[in-house]
Amino acid sequence: MSVARHNARITIPQLLARKGGDPVAVLTAYTAPVARLIDPYVDAILVGDSLGMVIYGLPSTLAVTLDMMIAHGRAVVTSTAHAAVIVDMPFGSYQASPAQAFTAAARIMAETGCDAVKLEGGVEMAETISFLVARGIPVMGHVGLTPQAVNKLGGYQARGRDPKEADRIIEGAIAIAAAGAFSMVVEGTIDPVSRAVTEAVPVPTIGIGASAACDGQVLVIDDVLGLSGDFRPKLARCYVDLGPMIAQAAQSYAADVKAHRFPGPENVYGLSKTRA
Ligand code: KIV
Repeated sequence: MSVARHNARITIPQLLARKGGDPVAVLTAYTAPVARLIDPYVDAILVGDSLGMVIYGLPSTLAVTLDMMIAHGRAVVTSTAHAAVIVDMPFGSYQASPAQAFTAAARIMAETGCDAVKLEGGVEMAETISFLVARGIPVMGHVGLTPQAVNKLGGYQARGRDPKEADRIIEGAIAIAAAGAFSMVVEGTIDPVSRAVTEAVPVPTIGIGASAACDGQVLVIDDVLGLSGDFRPKLARCYVDLGPMIAQAAQSYAADVKAHRFPGPENVYGLSKTRA
């Protein structure tokens, strides 16, 4: 199988130009090896604050820090060459004021080399988005189910079933697009809301649990690879079930060690330095 060679990373203006065109394929990644493997095939990689749950086993995204996002963002940027890389702004790093958001976003951009940042919220974040964009920081928005507000929302249920809430989501999407967001994640909404948002904004909407009405889709990589254990969210599709394969590999390795089958002669250093 030959892998397409890409000479340049997809730019933010190129992503913006995909509105209403070829669907935009986005996956999350948090580590260098996984980012390297998926890079040739996706348009953008999101270093999501979902890493709090996926990588660190935290109960929510709330305890994720700026330093964690920067460390993982840098790993993903350095190991990729094709996909645009977008890094999530963690809870507490941007909500206080536009100035606080600029300081945090500037650190993320400078220390990771990423192409853009993402932050959650609707109308209330429009001023902040406008402040960042005016200062050269591309921003992806995030509306619908906003996991950083899980305590206020009371859980991770789909949003927008209530007509008032549906209107608030659509208004929020319009406000952040007008503020300069180049794209937005639409998470956990019913199809009519995703459709209304997608029709109302001039920038690509990237859905997760938000139906096929969006301009693109994003999934959490561990759900795609079967690494989320018994948690099989309805919104995701598992393309390869690596979990049982990894468990099987560990079992075989441990059995080989206990039976003195590993290491074999091929794994042992000799006197000659000709082979590593
Ligand atoms: O943190 C994340 O991975 C996200 C996606 C679910 C969109 O925000």
